[in-house]
Amino acid sequence: MRIILVDNSLESGRIIVESLAPEHQIQQMMSSEECFRKMVAFSPDIVIVNDLLEDMPVLDFCQRIKGSPLGDFATILVISSQKNVESRIQYYDAGADDYIIQPIHHNELRAKIQALGRNRNQLEKLWLAHFYANQQYDRMKELVQKKSEEIEATRNMTVFVIAKLAESRATGQGQHLERIRDYSQILGEELYRRGTFPEIERNFLVDLYNASPLHDLGKVAIPDHILLKEGPLTAEEFNIMKQHSVIGAETLQLAMQQSGYSSFLAMSIDIARHHHERFDGQGYPDGLAGLDIPLAAQIVSVVDVFDALTSQRVYKKAIAPDAVKIMIEQDTGRRFNPAIVRAFTKRFNDFMDIYVSHRDAPAEPVLTEELATEWW
Ligand SMILES: [Fe+2]
Ligand SMILES: [Fe+2]
Repeated sequence: MRIILVDNSLESGRIIVESLAPEHQIQQMMSSEECFRKMVAFSPDIVIVNDLLEDMPVLDFCQRIKGSPLGDFATILVISSQKNVESRIQYYDAGADDYIIQPIHHNELRAKIQALGRNRNQLEKLWLAHFYANQQYDRMKELVQKKSEEIEATRNMTVFVIAKLAESRATGQGQHLERIRDYSQILGEELYRRGTFPEIERNFLVDLYNASPLHDLGKVAIPDHILLKEGPLTAEEFNIMKQHSVIGAETLQLAMQQSGYSSFLAMSIDIARHHHERFDGQGYPDGLAGLDIPLAAQIVSVVDVFDALTSQRVYKKAIAPDAVKIMIEQDTGRRFNPAIVRAFTKRFNDFMDIYVSHRDAPAEPVLTEELATEWW
């Protein structure tokens, strides 16, 4: 054992050192201050302290040792001059582990040191076991985290591929969905930065990025002659077209019933069902108005309109982004939530970067407000 003896009497200290030195590494210190100074460097297993210390009451000494960073690792043995049992009991309250009464019987001292050493070794084994268990726990946590990230990345990719497949029937192999999720992310970030909607936090933005491409999933169930029609839809055809929002949401609802709740699926359902609602309540399928429309759907509504109008379709030409920007701003409070339109206006340059980098058609957009009828 590594032992510090704190005893300001040279003579009594020398006798203790001589008695323990053959089996232990022991150093005598003449004051509590010296002990505190050298404690970290020496790193004792046991501190033996004479209760007749001159520079500090022994109870304070015990408390300070136990309160120090090394306190959990050092066992304290008090050499007691107290005749009174009650006074000696106070050592324990102050943090001492044991005491030995003056005059010291050296065989008893050696036996006590041996017993304290045994306890100390047990404790060390427990610390080590605890340490390794913690290490193991951290490793497992890291592994689970890595696996979860892998699963999530695979899920997101699978979902995106399914969305692409569904979308490819309507708009070919264009980059509509890549733009939708990038535009949605920009709007989401801007609204988060502004603090407009408290429900927007990191998870919301991640879900929005991954769920927005599913907005038109239900279009897979719309017949070709309606989905691919070159020209305006009749009222009856449009009613069938509108069903894509309900069908998409119901499909995703089924997925959630099977796999259990996830914020991602819940948001996907909201977006699929409500991305054609209008802020003034004139949209479909439920005619929701204002803040009753799920926020993610309100965001996707703006970006979907922006992208649909700036893209060429079989039934319409593309409209120049500047003109579309004005159209969206004019529709604030009617089709769109004014707070979201403000965020859109603020980040219009970032929308343009994506518009340019993910552009589909080489054809020049028309510059006028040639709004295709019921393109949505
Ligand atoms: Fe849609
Ligand atoms: Fe769309």
